[in-house]
Amino acid sequence: MCYAMPGRVTEISDGKVVVDYFGERRRVRNDFFKLAVGDYVYAQGGFIVQRISAAEAEPVLTTWKEYFAQLNKTDLRLASTGEDLRARANRVRREHTGNSSCVHGIIEFSNHCRADCLYCGLRSSNKSLKRYRMTPGEIVAAADYAIEKLGFKAIVLQSGEDAFFDGKTLSGIIARIMGKHPVLIVMSVGERDYSDYEAMYSAGARGALIRFETSNPVIYEKLRPGRRQAERLSLIKRLKSDGWIIMSGFIQGLPGQTEKDIAADIKLSESLGVEMMSFGPLIPHPDTPLAAAPPADFEKILDTIARARIMFPELRILVTTAAETLGGKEAARRALMAGANSVMVNLTPPEYSGLYSLYPGRVPVAGSRGEAVAETVKMLREMGRAPSDIGSTE
Ligand code: 5AD
Ligand code: SF4
Repeated sequence: MCYAMPGRVTEISDGKVVVDYFGERRRVRNDFFKLAVGDYVYAQGGFIVQRISAAEAEPVLTTWKEYFAQLNKTDLRLASTGEDLRARANRVRREHTGNSSCVHGIIEFSNHCRADCLYCGLRSSNKSLKRYRMTPGEIVAAADYAIEKLGFKAIVLQSGEDAFFDGKTLSGIIARIMGKHPVLIVMSVGERDYSDYEAMYSAGARGALIRFETSNPVIYEKLRPGRRQAERLSLIKRLKSDGWIIMSGFIQGLPGQTEKDIAADIKLSESLGVEMMSFGPLIPHPDTPLAAAPPADFEKILDTIARARIMFPELRILVTTAAETLGGKEAARRALMAGANSVMVNLTPPEYSGLYSLYPGRVPVAGSRGEAVAETVKMLREMGRAPSDIGSTE
């Protein structure tokens, strides 16, 4: 497993567990396992996904030990120069979350959507998009591939708001995946009956990726016809209070959005108690009413990442695929050097991934899923980032 590193349980109290990675201690949550001090575990997203035996863990850790120290040195060297906002944010990242980096894989299983967001290529009014739906069997197979062949321990299952996938179908898929592998399943399926979320949680999903899109209610309601911001926010809050790990965030560069709105967006992410912030730039889609809007400024995205990091030192901040699409080849690296510490790799089967057209030109444009993973891992290694779970620092 090249980018998941086991840790050792050193303390257990009040449902929280402290996991040690070569002297770096992280506090994580444990829902599924009976643990004792001394056990070895894999954690992802601040959450224990697997318990492994000492016989399995020790050889992996022996391989990692020296390497982990080397990575740390590289990160320290790269983070030690520069005085601008981004360099300072990068040091805050290092100080508070170490060189850990979460790597999540995303499978986009349906591009049908009943919503009509003005910015999004999947909107129901876009009749020129070829729609697809993976079958439950295909979704489980894609997850198997991601977990068994590519080594992922956290999988995001994403779709438009597709009523075809009701709570029963989704929970069936989750149960099938969880029945085979220990993994953190994050659902990104939008607004739906709360009973669907309850069924998904019972089946074992623990993460919800649901952006609030913008903290500005006027912009929100203009760009999401028929939707109320208050409803979205209360869904996120309810999920949070029911134990979901929340990943949320906003789009930067929406028409009418001001600097003040963006500052409020960052604050709102934090006040919702998110585990991971995900904010991406607007990339106008030609088949939407925002076709003529200017794309967001990538440099400003980097500054937003840096600002968010300085304001909230402990958070996971994701390098979004939209930022990678907008910023080109060096985008992920630059975002990681501006305070980000999580990445997402697209693991949608190639026959579908081109059709998940939230915005044009989505990366990866070429290459297999395995190649995309290898490239990400290589980049993280060159940057001295380790695949230990981020958790919160002890
Ligand atoms: N540009 C950038 N991000 C977009 N999203 C949808 N359309 C666009 C676009 N044109 C984002 C929204 C949504 C997520 C799945 O994709 O924030 O929550
Ligand atoms: Fe549907 Fe999400 Fe796109 Fe809105 S942003 S149209 S809810 S996929």
